[in-house]
Amino acid sequence: MYILSIETSCDETAISIVETKNKTIKVLSNIISSQIKLHAQWGGVVPNLAAREHLKNILPVLKKALKKAKKNLPEIDLISVTHGPGLIPALLIGTSTAKTLAYYWQKPLLGIHHIEGHIYANFLDTKNNEIKFPLLALVVSGGHTQLILMSDHFQYQIIGETQDDAVGEAFDKVARILNLGYPGGPIISQKAQEFSKRKELSQHSIEFPRPMLHSNNFNFSFSGLKTAVLYQVKKLEKENISISSLQPLLAYKFQEAAVDVLVQKTLKALRKYSVKSFLLAGGVSANKYLRKNLKEKISQEFPSIRIFFPSLQYTGDNASMIASAAFYRWKSLPTSKRKTLFQNWKKLKTEANLKL
Ligand code: KG4
Ligand code: ZN
Repeated sequence: MYILSIETSCDETAISIVETKNKTIKVLSNIISSQIKLHAQWGGVVPNLAAREHLKNILPVLKKALKKAKKNLPEIDLISVTHGPGLIPALLIGTSTAKTLAYYWQKPLLGIHHIEGHIYANFLDTKNNEIKFPLLALVVSGGHTQLILMSDHFQYQIIGETQDDAVGEAFDKVARILNLGYPGGPIISQKAQEFSKRKELSQHSIEFPRPMLHSNNFNFSFSGLKTAVLYQVKKLEKENISISSLQPLLAYKFQEAAVDVLVQKTLKALRKYSVKSFLLAGGVSANKYLRKNLKEKISQEFPSIRIFFPSLQYTGDNASMIASAAFYRWKSLPTSKRKTLFQNWKKLKTEANLKL
């Protein structure tokens, strides 16, 4: 079957067309129009600006996605769209477009949870066919930091989550404190890599806190870590020490602290819950240092757990991940339920705080 998917929950207008066979998903097109440059001047995403850009871009992105996939709308078998969580003005552009297409072309319509999409990005690779349940997923994005247990497809149990900032948000805020621009994740990780090459920086003995590392649960907190970086920068400025020369050190030490907490909490969860697979998901999953540490520590302590990371092109917001989740959902539905989806253009709700 052919699935057309739309994702507009934040600052990427994304449309993808995939072809599914028995167990495999072939991505025919994965078009992403990013608004990063526009929002960079504000240091973060401005919801109404995002909506305006989505509106401007969505039909050209649709045209491109169809052209690249060499498909026409009548050939599509299922339409799916992110219907939450996210920025309402942004989400509405995607859901309205999906509803209009589903109504006009009389197609079934499925709403997908954004985080579900990130998790299912792991199922896009054919080599990831072997993902076995139960599994533990660590979701790390700009809006979420969660440890989620899945006993089977779509059976979610959130066992821990951030009490304040998401880890991606902390990367973005720390990048702003260090004058590194937006989005912070890629720049911080790049600066952190420079640290190991600059031996003279290791003489500084800066360490940042690991909030909630020893708490008796699987929750996280990243707001205090961000504030610790801010205080450190203020202290250095007071001592007339140039921040720009210390950017790699501060970026490294921040990344080290954030990753340490993510890895330790994951290990703690794996000690309590016996799972067959571990999945990483969300924009921060592009971080090489995080991947390396998770892989090393998990495989050392739990050699039988299979570890999966999404391929780099599907770590950030994209619509192929939404198509992947839609495919598995569709497969799990009885025929009677599938039929009702032809009327879903009337019913599908758009929810800023949609629950998993
Ligand atoms: O999943 P995503 O694209 O959007 C949301 O759903 O939020 O995640 C975006 C977040 C941003 O905070 C960005 O700074 C972060 O992912 N990010 C990274 C890296 N690449 C993107 N964080 C750390 N290291 C990276 N390489
Ligand atoms: Zn996302």
